[in-house]
Amino acid sequence: MSTLFNGQKNNRMSTAVRLLFSGAILLSVVSFMSLSNSEAGKTNQNQASIVGEMNMLPLGGDVELGKALFQAKACFACHGMNGEGNALGPNLTDDFSKQGCKEADIMKVINKGVPGTAMVAYEAQLKPAEVKQLAAFVLSLKGTKPANAKAAEGTKCQ
Ligand code: HEC
Repeated sequence: MSTLFNGQKNNRMSTAVRLLFSGAILLSVVSFMSLSNSEAGKTNQNQASIVGEMNMLPLGGDVELGKALFQAKACFACHGMNGEGNALGPNLTDDFSKQGCKEADIMKVINKGVPGTAMVAYEAQLKPAEVKQLAAFVLSLKGTKPANAKAAEGTKCQ
């Protein structure tokens, strides 16, 4: 009788222990799986963003950084939020320019300003890379035809 009792007790004990063990194993398997899944997700995301950047190469990542600077440096105050121009500054989206259409011309205007006009030199407050980013953004505006675009000024770009 006592052997049977012990046996039953041991049996119950071992069932409980087995349940505990298998629960713990199940838990660790599940958590391992979700961990490795989220790791895989991250890798996929990284790959996706690398592919995304590669697709943007013709424009360069500079355009987005230039857009942020256009806002941070308040260029929009005289050129409009979308480069459409306003009473103060010329339209940057059309195919006409007062100071030249090439990247180098645009960088020069940003660096040195246009003496005698509201366009001041930004050289002292921008890194060369930032001037390039701004120029990339300005070039990306060409042909975007924003609302309220200011009439063309200067000469037609070649
Ligand atoms: C206070 C007003 C003002 C601000 C702020 C300003 N600009 Fe200008 N910008 C002008 C004016 C005015 C001109 C036209 C100068 C001229 O007569 O040639 C100009 C010209 C330009 C041109 C040449 C356009 C052309 O037709 O050749 C570019 C490019 C330009 N600005 C970019 C910028 C950028 C980028 C910023 C910000 C870092 C900026 N501007 C900030 C007033 C401003």
